[in-house]
Amino acid sequence: CSKETTNNLKELCVRNLLAGNPVIPVITLDRVEDAVPLAQALVAGGLKVLEVTLRTEAAVEGIQQIIKHVPQAIVGTGTVCNEQQIKLSEDIGCQFMISPGATDNLLQAAQASSIPFLPGISSVSELMRGLEYGHRDFKFFPAEAAGGAPVLKSMSGPFGDVRFCPTGGIGVHNVMAYLSLPNVLCVGGSWIAQPKLIKEKKWTEIEQLAREAFALAG
Ligand code: 3PG
Repeated sequence: CSKETTNNLKELCVRNLLAGNPVIPVITLDRVEDAVPLAQALVAGGLKVLEVTLRTEAAVEGIQQIIKHVPQAIVGTGTVCNEQQIKLSEDIGCQFMISPGATDNLLQAAQASSIPFLPGISSVSELMRGLEYGHRDFKFFPAEAAGGAPVLKSMSGPFGDVRFCPTGGIGVHNVMAYLSLPNVLCVGGSWIAQPKLIKEKKWTEIEQLAREAFALAG
């Protein structure tokens, strides 16, 4: 099929993925050995779409371990900032990619990629650039620092078809302010797979946090 059709399908795929999974844990892995028990805890708590940030050396092998040993998880890369990381995401078999921002280089590379991509935006002009590349769904980052839920509410006027995954500064205290907006498909955040809990291997606590987030969003 044509490149345009492929990109439309990828966009549809992002929307379905996010719409069915209202909370996405943002994971930063410092040790490969934590990847599988962490993913198992999150999936057991009801959260199966996992964003693993490409910020650490352990990330790539950790993602590979999750894909191999936790088949119920849908794993994507986060903090995707350049073409090499897009290629890497394909090579290791990720199912989606998320970036904090969106340059023309990144948007072009994502168009040529086989994997669905969620570009990050924090302003109207960035959103409009993403629309020019055929995207209809965006990460809104850094959500709280960039104005929070009121910004997304305002964007629903001129951009009624656009949907968001806000991330950055979201936790139990404010998650519903986002999830109650009709143009929010899901939220992302590190409040579930907290770095401190991962360091201490507190898998039961993480599972409980996942369960609570799943129940809130449900
Ligand atoms: C990130 O990419 O770091 C996410 O936006 C997570 O933000 P948070 O740590 O504020 O939840």
